[in-house]
Amino acid sequence: MPVVATAVLAVATGIVSVHAGDPASGRKKASMCQTCHGYDGIARIPNAPHIAGESRIYLQAQLKAFRSGKRKHEIMSVIAGQLSDEDIAQLSAWYSSIEFTAIPPE
Ligand code: HEC
Repeated sequence: MPVVATAVLAVATGIVSVHAGDPASGRKKASMCQTCHGYDGIARIPNAPHIAGESRIYLQAQLKAFRSGKRKHEIMSVIAGQLSDEDIAQLSAWYSSIEFTAIPPE
């Protein structure tokens, strides 16, 4: 779904207030995340989740939950605590814009 359409849909449905972050800025900020999640959203360490192609709404909600303390994790709570709303919008835009294809075994 195009980035704008996703944001409009989310606002229109009132699911969550969405900041329309741009993926290019998010890509630069993803240097903070690459050790564990990769620039491409494919996890580099076994205990971190893949976040490539994850919905923007979900990514924003999780980062805000880590930041507020609603969701707790020793690493992510610290990292999210340093992110502004704009950082979260841009990082979510970047990771959600990555095309991800799942190929189940035959
Ligand atoms: C040192 C490793 C590390 C770094 C750096 C890191 N993360 Fe994470 N991240 C994790 C781990 C581990 C989890 C799993 C947390 C849990 O089990 O609840 C996680 C979880 C997440 C989740 C939740 C995913 C889900 O499926 O619910 C998001 C979103 C996320 N990280 C985004 C980021 C972003 C954006 C950055 C950079 C600003 C970042 N992380 C930096 C290790 C890291």
